[in-house]
Amino acid sequence: MIGQALNRVDGPLKVTGGATYAYEFRDGDQPLYGFVVGATIGRGRITGIDTTRVESSPGVHLVLTHQNAPAQGARDLSVPFEYWRAYPTLSSPDVHHHGEPVALVVAATFEQARTAANLVDVEYAAEQGSYDFAACQDQAYAPESLIFGIPADTAVGDVDAGLRTAEVQVDEWYTTPYEFSQPMEPPACLVVPDGDDLVVYTSCQIVDAARASIAATLELDPERVHVVTQYVGGGFGSKLRIHGETILAAMAARALQRPVKVALTRQQMFSSVSVRPTSSQRVRLGAERDGRLVAIAHEVTMHTNRHVEFIEPTATATRSLYAAPNRLTSTRLVPLDVLRGEDVRAPGEAPGLLVVESAVDELAHALGMDPVELRIRNEPTVDPERGVPYSDRHLVECLRDGADRFGWERRLPEPARRRDGRWLVGYGVAAAIRVHLQGPTKAAVRLGPDGIAVVESDMTDIGTGTYTILTQVAAEGLGLPPDRVRVELGRSEFPPSVGSGGSWGAGNSSTAVHHACTALREKLLAAASSDVRSPLHGLDTAGAVFSGGSVSIDGASEALGEIVTRNCPEGLEAEGETVLLTEEPNYGAYAIHTYGAHFAEVGVDADTAEIRLRRMLGVFSVGRVLNAKTARSQLIGGMIWGVSQALAEEGVVDMRSGGFVNRDLAQYLVPVHADIPEIDAVMLDGFDDKANVLGVKGLGELGICGAGAAVANAVFNATGVRVRDFPITIEKVL
Ligand code: MOS
Repeated sequence: MIGQALNRVDGPLKVTGGATYAYEFRDGDQPLYGFVVGATIGRGRITGIDTTRVESSPGVHLVLTHQNAPAQGARDLSVPFEYWRAYPTLSSPDVHHHGEPVALVVAATFEQARTAANLVDVEYAAEQGSYDFAACQDQAYAPESLIFGIPADTAVGDVDAGLRTAEVQVDEWYTTPYEFSQPMEPPACLVVPDGDDLVVYTSCQIVDAARASIAATLELDPERVHVVTQYVGGGFGSKLRIHGETILAAMAARALQRPVKVALTRQQMFSSVSVRPTSSQRVRLGAERDGRLVAIAHEVTMHTNRHVEFIEPTATATRSLYAAPNRLTSTRLVPLDVLRGEDVRAPGEAPGLLVVESAVDELAHALGMDPVELRIRNEPTVDPERGVPYSDRHLVECLRDGADRFGWERRLPEPARRRDGRWLVGYGVAAAIRVHLQGPTKAAVRLGPDGIAVVESDMTDIGTGTYTILTQVAAEGLGLPPDRVRVELGRSEFPPSVGSGGSWGAGNSSTAVHHACTALREKLLAAASSDVRSPLHGLDTAGAVFSGGSVSIDGASEALGEIVTRNCPEGLEAEGETVLLTEEPNYGAYAIHTYGAHFAEVGVDADTAEIRLRRMLGVFSVGRVLNAKTARSQLIGGMIWGVSQALAEEGVVDMRSGGFVNRDLAQYLVPVHADIPEIDAVMLDGFDDKANVLGVKGLGELGICGAGAAVANAVFNATGVRVRDFPITIEKVL
């Protein structure tokens, strides 16, 4: 079962409208609708709010502002992970970024709420904010460390000396823009008060974090908060935590003792959730003539919101990517009054590899060496900074296999030499590497007398296929056909998980379900072998085989449902779990990553510099694949995002207000179908026995890692123009 390209078990529900998303639930009384009012300044404080016009507007039930919002818990930095911390909203008159909520208007209909929201009169004492990343570089500071105490800076050997002695050097600065997570489903929720309890239907990636954050903010016992997240229309990091909309809906629902719905508009998403920090990155590479690197330096400066520090681990992938005796990585933050940064798909690797893998291409060009060969020559034998072995590294195989499949030998090393009519044609390659993460996740599996297994976890399916892969893992674990397995996710009363994010979801939840099935098999065998009524009574269970809904030992066999019916008619249940990676010995002893190689072919119009992707291939090593179809879809989605990162996406700040100018999908550009031709993702067979018992590693974010650099390198090969200020747009190539 595991690995098969099983169709999504939730597919029929999704295409028939049977899958209920957060905003679509009905529960209790007719809901009221809230509309968020955002600040129109970037920095300062509210000096007065006049709500009289709002209160007389039709249908209005409540206007929440900082003047009448309840007292709230503060963001507690001792809670180790940001997404579990409180998210105080309307808790003071201070404004920390443009669009920050300053009021919630609640009315009988959405239209009434939105109309009335326009009538809130807010007076501000605006202060001069810092919005210009480039102009504020002198304010950069060094953060203490990254998450899990990972150092913000590292140094091995002497990079400056290494660069001085190297025969060939590259020393370039690159910039990457603000990028946004923009899932199809916006942040949305329905909050229903139930006595002292709150039932929260919300769109989120981590149910346990949502519950903890709501409870901490509203100063409630977490047991009083019930979160339901059955289907999620995409997250990409923007729903790792709940934001103001859910907190505001909860406060309004409690105040009014009525169900309240709040959704953000697409435009509001550009001032409320999940922006990838803009960055300036300097890369210095020094190599001998034969291509061997002597020195690698990757120095990263990014924006952070002045009020809430966020550090994207942009230089960390560089620490494990290539061998070199002299190395340096550094992280600096420039405090601005721009929207707070948050994790956006492949946080760190996405902007970091875009840059480093462009610089490696520059080095190959300077050396006159094939960029695939250059990478292979710098393959490390152990992790070059940690000194530990790799668990299961197959980057070279990905590069070689991809080069073969893509027809890389047809690439002309000299740029701007291949023409196809009006198009200049170029090939590009880049490597992908992504850290493998693990967190505490529990799952329960219960077998009923009907022989149907029910899996329960508060794990989410954010469109990635969790329902399907867990069906496969449980079916294999219990020897059941997949239609005898039902997976129930996304409810806070189920065993807690770390949800979906950081590509950890599939590895954690499948391992937990696998352990639960192993424990359940033991229970079933113990019950059968000790039961005189069972054909398996007294048999040695060591050779038991679970298959087709039965268990057999030496020719004797019994249906699983029979064992349950006789011994525990209410069902037989077992739990499995995974632990935080810092408690897992293999994480200290090995460098555990996923790998890949991207190959892109672009055409650039010789006159207009219009850039078209012509084809793209990624070859990936991800350990064991749980479902060939959902895995491939994840990788292709990531690759398309890489194309988007290279050629299209850029959030532009309005230097007067600190807000984003291009705040809808007409102006914040992403590829459409016509921009994406033939793309393929291939996965090498694998099994990483250091990652977990199933050999599985997360792959959701691997596809974007390095993908943009392959496109950028293809643009250089096509034109001879190297653009270091992403995205690569026409005017920069001309
Ligand atoms: Mo991902 S950016 O951790 O959802």
